[in-house]
Amino acid sequence: MTGLVQEPITPRLGSCLTGLDLKQPISPALAEDLRQRLADRLVLVLPEQNLDIPALKRATEVFGPLMRLPYVAPLPKDPDVIAVLKEAEERNIHVFGGNWHSDFSYLEKPPGGSLLQAVDLPPVGGDTLWADGVTAWETLPDDLRAVVDGRNAIQTGKPYGVKHRPKVATSKSVKMTRGDPEADRERALPAVRRHPISGKAALFVNPTYTTRLEGMSEEESAPILARLYAHMTRPEFQCRHRWRPGDLVIWDNRATMHFAVNDYDGHRRLLYRTTFAGEAPVMA
Ligand code: SIN
Repeated sequence: MTGLVQEPITPRLGSCLTGLDLKQPISPALAEDLRQRLADRLVLVLPEQNLDIPALKRATEVFGPLMRLPYVAPLPKDPDVIAVLKEAEERNIHVFGGNWHSDFSYLEKPPGGSLLQAVDLPPVGGDTLWADGVTAWETLPDDLRAVVDGRNAIQTGKPYGVKHRPKVATSKSVKMTRGDPEADRERALPAVRRHPISGKAALFVNPTYTTRLEGMSEEESAPILARLYAHMTRPEFQCRHRWRPGDLVIWDNRATMHFAVNDYDGHRRLLYRTTFAGEAPVMA
């Protein structure tokens, strides 16, 4: 695309894209190009976008239909957008997204990805981390590979359920429904899934929603999952984004996990988030 410059953030994961203004009309050719870049790099950082809500929703639809989230209250004025917010006076609490996770990985059709538009940022801190499930799978030790290859993992909406409900206080700025017994319902989904655009295989388990491996108890699964997560979150499989005013970040939820770093007590942090739909995961 003319004028578009892509620079890698790490060798395998994440790119910064400049020379593009998503407030302008997005042609079908540009949309296809952006989908390919996202499938290839999994995280795209677009500085100085400053998208308002209509423009953020239009940009989201480049990647898939807008998806409404379970258990998280959207903006009163727009059911397709959530405010990821921690107020300055909220101290010593857990934040939305403050553990490694793939968004809503327990759904029959987990989200394909999300867009996050910076609105109000702390002077420093509040970075976001992503971890690359493709590289993690490609480099997985043989004994772990043998366990997860061709196997389902059991996923549940456990932070929103009864059995595993979190014991720590969470930011009240993001309104979440807790204690729903339906959220404890288990779903078996491939532990290694095939990406529908890149065709690559990626690990699809995460510490927030995966309770066990199919055919094993939680106790039997725990040491295996712990080794998987330690591998998936190795520093060389991560990229980290330090937010600047106006930044837009787009990520792939099929092949990455992410983590909101909660190190900015005393400062307000607000980003608007949209989500695009995905498909039922296909075993790799
Ligand atoms: C999220 O998990 O969507 C939140 C990410 C962030 O606040 O950096």
